[in-house]
Amino acid sequence: MNPDEMKKQAAIAAMEYVGTDGVVGVGTGSTVNYFIDQLATIKNKIEGAVSSSEASTERLKAHGIQVIDLNAAGELSVYVDGADEANHFLQLIKGGGGALTREKIIAAASKKFVCIADSSKLVDVLGEFPLPVEVLPMARSYVARELVKLGGTPMWRENFVTDNGNLILDVHHLQIMEPIKLERQINDIAGVVTVGLFAARAADVLLLGSSDGVQTILPK
Ligand code: A5P
Repeated sequence: MNPDEMKKQAAIAAMEYVGTDGVVGVGTGSTVNYFIDQLATIKNKIEGAVSSSEASTERLKAHGIQVIDLNAAGELSVYVDGADEANHFLQLIKGGGGALTREKIIAAASKKFVCIADSSKLVDVLGEFPLPVEVLPMARSYVARELVKLGGTPMWRENFVTDNGNLILDVHHLQIMEPIKLERQINDIAGVVTVGLFAARAADVLLLGSSDGVQTILPK
């Protein structure tokens, strides 16, 4: 099975977590695109979706799924999103697509965070995938210097602007042994909007597509 098929299988499995009549939180990325396509098959049974990016909004609308503002939705029962890396505690690196800030807000506002991914995303230690950090444009160089002090090698994601009008620094060469601590440290740097470490609010369940089918992984 190739990675795309694994992503699709994980997305199909996530449908079991989606109730009817409610509003579903929807992440961003190639795995979530499969989930949006699945959601379209029950679009008349759900109220709508809260979207984490302009890209997902466009796809949801193209399927005729109503996109609802988070402020109008209240607490969401379920949020479905992908990840760039996940460890066995279901702490994640996210933001490869640059949508980390809205993703983190929706994850925080949801009772259950269902992460969907192909098997290549599960790792023992987070950090091989460069950690995305969204920064206000004027703070780019300052934040980069602070990230070097934390042991990383930040690279400016050039020619990329987030949906919020900000920039992304991708931090290479981190071996993240204490994800919650590092998330707090990076959050504390002035000018940081969001760090793509989802550790304090990890996923509640990971649906991992593999050649042997979809594995349901709960936090260790
Ligand atoms: C978007 O900003 C990211 O957080 C995605 O959730 C992550 O990059 C996973 O994307 P894929 O499903 O495309 O691997």
